[in-house]
Amino acid sequence: MSLFSQIRKDRVPSHVAIIMDGNGRWAKSQGKDRVFGHFQGVESVRNSVRAAIKCGVKYLTLYAFSTENWNRPKEEVDALMELLVNTILNEVPSLNSQGIRLKFIGDRTSLPASCLAAILESEQRTSANDTLQLTLALSYSARWEMIEAVKKIVSSGVSVAEINDQMVSNAMETAGMPDPELLVRTSGELRISNFLLWQIAYAELFFTDKFWPEFDEELFYEAILSYQSRERRFGKTSEQMTQ
Ligand code: FPP
Repeated sequence: MSLFSQIRKDRVPSHVAIIMDGNGRWAKSQGKDRVFGHFQGVESVRNSVRAAIKCGVKYLTLYAFSTENWNRPKEEVDALMELLVNTILNEVPSLNSQGIRLKFIGDRTSLPASCLAAILESEQRTSANDTLQLTLALSYSARWEMIEAVKKIVSSGVSVAEINDQMVSNAMETAGMPDPELLVRTSGELRISNFLLWQIAYAELFFTDKFWPEFDEELFYEAILSYQSRERRFGKTSEQMTQ
């Protein structure tokens, strides 16, 4: 029986973030080249989106390409960009039929023109949807985002005394989105890799040894169930939380 039936619908995280990792290693394990793993990874994106909608998650944020990924071999970067552009544009009708709004975070100035055009077009064509906001982090890193936020705040002329938590959140790429309550990483790596460092301050972490191309709906439900088994105390004691 599917794990879905065990999920408590009143305690579903509103925002789930995923570090999709292990495409290359999975492809190698199949005797294929790395790009094959990225192609297969698109199906896992579809699986995670479907599962998120079934659970009632409102925001799903996926780490698709980091600022550090530009240092990969040119052939892989080119293939990934082409895959992203084609996938983004081809998926728009399906996104619209499922009520999914697409959004991008990251350094747009570093993206090839074709990718930037696909981003703008897909954001615009899905802007009226509100079942799920699917955010893709592209040419993104948390330190880059934080530096940009500091620049925005300083150049706004605000006084030091006025700077607070909310102001910093509003200066982030994720302005207007709730912080992720759950962060998932595949492929057995136990690190955050420069992803949403400000926003995951109180997120629950879920790590799985499965590679991203192996990610299916059941694994998403497993992550949600793990989240629901945690006691979230936000620095308080257990007794305070039950009061
Ligand atoms: C990490 O695996 C994955 C990526 C850098 C790219 C993610 C891209 C996709 C899943 C495909 C397209 C996605 C969308 C949203 C359309 P890795 O290459 O770092 O694997 P490795 O750690 O085994 O080398």
